[in-house]
This record gives sequence, C-alpha cells and structure tokens, in this order.
Amino acid sequence: MSGIVVLISGRGSNLEAMCNNTTLITQIKCVISNTSDALGLEIAKKFGIPYTIVEHKQYKTREEFDKQLALIIDSYNPGFIILAGFMRILSSWFVTHYSMRLVNIHPSLLPSFIGTDAIKQAFATKVKVSGITIHFVTDKLDHGPIIAQAVVAVMPCSNVEELANRIHKLEHLVYPFIIHKLLTGKVQVLDNGLVTVKKEDCDLITLSEFHSSIFY
Ligand code: GRF
Repeated sequence: MSGIVVLISGRGSNLEAMCNNTTLITQIKCVISNTSDALGLEIAKKFGIPYTIVEHKQYKTREEFDKQLALIIDSYNPGFIILAGFMRILSSWFVTHYSMRLVNIHPSLLPSFIGTDAIKQAFATKVKVSGITIHFVTDKLDHGPIIAQAVVAVMPCSNVEELANRIHKLEHLVYPFIIHKLLTGKVQVLDNGLVTVKKEDCDLITLSEFHSSIFY
C-alpha cells in the first residue's frame, strides 16, 4: 500500500493545496468525486491526476455506492484515503474496511460544531477561538481519533466569510503537512486510542500570520 486516493464533492481547494505541494502531488494516485459537476475535478485535470466520477445517485443504497467506491479505491492500493470536502456519509462497512486509513478534515475544533455548517455555527456562537480538526473516520460522524488540530482567533473576523477564509487558508497549510506525516509513518495510534504525531526539526509550519497555532 502506498500513496493516497482523494475523495471530493465540491470546490476542491484542499485538493489544490495537496497538488501545490511538490512532494505530496506525486503521492496522489486518483481523485474520486461523487458528483460530475465538482469543481475539484478541474483541479485534478489541471494537474494531470487520474480521476473518476462515481455518481451516488446511480446507486439504490448507500452500501452499493460504497462498495463501488471501494472497488475503485482498492484498485489503487493506497495507504490512506483522504476526504477533502466529500459530502456523503459513509457506511459502517466502508469505514471498517478502511479502519485507521480513512482521514477527514473538519472546519471546527471537534467535538464542537459537528455537521455541515460548522463555520457558521462557530461564528454565531461567538466563540473566541475556532479552527480545524484532522481525524481518522469512524462510523460516528465527526468523532474519530484526532490526529491534529489548529486554532484560529475568531475575533479579528468581522463576518462569517472572513472566518471561513481564515479557516480555509489554515486547512490548506495543515492538511498537506499532516498527510505527509501519515505517509512517512510519523503518525501512531496508541493502545488507548490516542494519536501521536512525531515532531521533527525540519517541520516548517508557521501559522502566526493567521493568528493561529497547530497542535499535533
Ligand atoms: C473544507 O472546509 C473541509 O473542512 C470540509 O469541506 C470543505 C472542503 O472544501 N470538510 P474544499 O472542497 O476542499 O474547497
């Protein structure tokens, strides 16, 4: 097993950040979208990455769709399956099939603000800090073992769009960094379920200009 398969449904800005990372782009074996109009497919095309569309609407059940998805993923034998704005809930079967190989990014500090409108929820709640969470996927939505979190101050943002921009910029820096850690065997899951990420002298990740910090 090696490399990654990236699953998308929409804009694909996280995919683009992975493609702009000269080390990581060589590890992307395929991009799969569940909708034919996902803008992210244009990014896959632009960077010459193989892509496939598996339209969920064409399958009667979630399981049938997931089995087809897995058939394609497994043909690439990836080390990790990376969710980057993939908007389908995956079945227990799928999640178990890729146990501790399926990774998601969520735009809040989990377990706060679960679900699709996490940034709006955080802004409306008037929290002082929000951020992003990168985690392994389990069958409890947005609840798997946390690999890394990065925090942003909400205060400098005067509206939800500004907060969203700040959070997305942060995602684009941190997700490729953590995926690289996964691919180089620097992420370990301990018996108690805690995930540790090995820090190295060559870790060059400065987030202070975004009023943020990463914890990994
Ligand atoms: C990101 O905000 C990510 O946290 C969430 O979906 C969004 C995907 O954005 N899971 P993009 O398609 O990568 O631009």
